[in-house]
Amino acid sequence: MKKIKVKDKEFILSIPSKTIQEAVRRIAEKMNSDLKNKDVLFIGILNGAFMFASDLFRMIDFKCQITFLKLASYVGSSSSGTVQQLIGLNQNITGKTVVILEDIVDTGITIENIIKQLKGYEPAEIKIATMLLKPDAYTKDIPLDYIGLEIPNDFIIGYGLDYNGYGRNYEDIFSIVK
Ligand code: IMP
Ligand code: MG
Repeated sequence: MKKIKVKDKEFILSIPSKTIQEAVRRIAEKMNSDLKNKDVLFIGILNGAFMFASDLFRMIDFKCQITFLKLASYVGSSSSGTVQQLIGLNQNITGKTVVILEDIVDTGITIENIIKQLKGYEPAEIKIATMLLKPDAYTKDIPLDYIGLEIPNDFIIGYGLDYNGYGRNYEDIFSIVK
């Protein structure tokens, strides 16, 4: 099994790139049929979602827009529980179908906070697409419209996800060795 070391921690291959790409494709195909007649603005949440957003966006075949916002709530290998402000919105989203692109939904605190802040700008609707979901960690009732893969409640890196800033560059996802 492929193993990597990032800083002081060891990680083992968990989800190969091929499986990730198939999941992204499934989301894109569903969006291409669900959203084709809407005025869609994709909002990628930086930093983690940049790879997912990039792969997904090139599979979208209807006219749409994309922008990126930043909000960091994670320090080290466990959720800090603190939530920060959304920054970087310099575009009118009123009346649009906003599709949030997240790398991972863990407890759901981040996504809840993002939705709360975006609602203030009065979009027509807000949809959520997350590449990964940790169902055992999710504490919210907010329905997630598009989910790539459900994963166990273990710390992972790769495909945009980091451990203290490192490990985002791998095309596969690796899980921490406990
Ligand atoms: P939540 O607020 O608990 O749902 O956490 C969501 C955010 O935490 C994601 O956008 C990620 O940036 C980060 N995160 C959650 N789980 C992991 C993980 O296993 N590895 C790296 N980052 C994670
Ligand atoms: Mg994130």
